[in-house]
Amino acid sequence: MAFKEINIRDIKQSAVKLISDDWALVTATADGVTNTMTVSWGGIGELWGKDVVFIFIRPQRYTYELLEKTDMFSMSFFDGGYKKELGYCGKNSGRNGDKFEATGLKAIELEGVAAVEQAKYNVICKKIAFQDMDPKGFIDESIENNYNGDYHRIYIGEIVKVFENE
Ligand SMILES: Cc1cc2nc3c(=O)[nH]c(=O)nc-3n(C[C@H](O)[C@H](O)[C@H](O)COP(=O)(O)O)c2cc1C
Repeated sequence: MAFKEINIRDIKQSAVKLISDDWALVTATADGVTNTMTVSWGGIGELWGKDVVFIFIRPQRYTYELLEKTDMFSMSFFDGGYKKELGYCGKNSGRNGDKFEATGLKAIELEGVAAVEQAKYNVICKKIAFQDMDPKGFIDESIENNYNGDYHRIYIGEIVKVFENE
């Protein structure tokens, strides 16, 4: 493992590909537990003059519980690899077992924040805002079909540091 610090602008792949097609992991630590979950909805962009990520986490996720207890998290990108492992982390809850142990993915610390050794890019983020999805704002009514009352909490994470696996 050799991670070098880069700027988020140095990532040349499309954010849509990295998140939607390749999937990402969101990793957080609280109460002495580090857990990771797969996300394929989200974004990388700019808000309030800061480079940020946007993640959308349903309230029933263990990750939601952890994110409510910590301001730091990481978002890890795999550039098309590790789909089997990411599939596992998107189907199993950390409430029922350690997903790192189950998949062979390895939790490491970067800037004191849990990240993933096998990732191509680890983005260390600081939670700066959240907003609960309000169905009153659904102009396209079919959006409601994605929910069963479990509207996402949108977390906006300021990008603190970005690391590339060389
Ligand atoms: C490809 C894929 C993408 C997913 N994207 C999201 C997402 O963006 N937001 C979300 O809340 N759940 C998403 N999930 C579901 C969670 O990853 C899944 O419920 C996971 O088991 C939650 O783990 P946790 O309980 O340990 O937090 C996705 C699952 C898969 C397989």
